[in-house]
Amino acid sequence: MYSEKVMDHFQNPRNVGELENPSGVGTVGNAKCGDIMRIYLDVDENQIIQDVKFKTFGCGAAVATSSMATELVKGKTIFEALQVTNKAVMEALDGLPPVKVHCSLLAEEAIHAALWDYAEKHQIEIPGLEKPVNDISEHEEEEEY
Ligand code: FES
Repeated sequence: MYSEKVMDHFQNPRNVGELENPSGVGTVGNAKCGDIMRIYLDVDENQIIQDVKFKTFGCGAAVATSSMATELVKGKTIFEALQVTNKAVMEALDGLPPVKVHCSLLAEEAIHAALWDYAEKHQIEIPGLEKPVNDISEHEEEEEY
C-alpha cells in the first residue's frame, strides 16, 4: 500500500526535532483527523534555508511527508521553498494512497506557515504566499486532489 520511500521516511524520518531561535515557525493542524505538524526554519542573510526541523503528531503518511518536505526545502531560498507543493512531496515519495493525500497538504501548509512567520518577522513579502490557516480541514473541500 505504501511505497518503499514512504516506509523509509516513516521509519527513519529526517530532520526531526526543533530549532533554538528559529527564523520562522509554522504550525498547522487538521481538525478532522486531529493531526498537527510544526516546522522550524533557519534562514540565513541570503534568504537561504540552512536548516529545517519538524515535529509531527500524526499518522505515518504525515510523518513521511514532513520528512520529505524538509529534505526538499533544505538549501533552497525562501522563494524556491514556496514551490515545494504537496504534489512535489508526493512525487518524491513515489506516491501516496488516495486516502492519505490530505496528509501531504499538512506538510505543504506547515512550510507555508513557517515562511509566513519568517516574512512577517523580517517585514518582507514572498510573492504568492498566502496567509496560512491553523486548521487546513476548513479548506479541504476547495482543494484539488
Ligand atoms: Fe491526518 Fe494523515 S490522517 S494527516
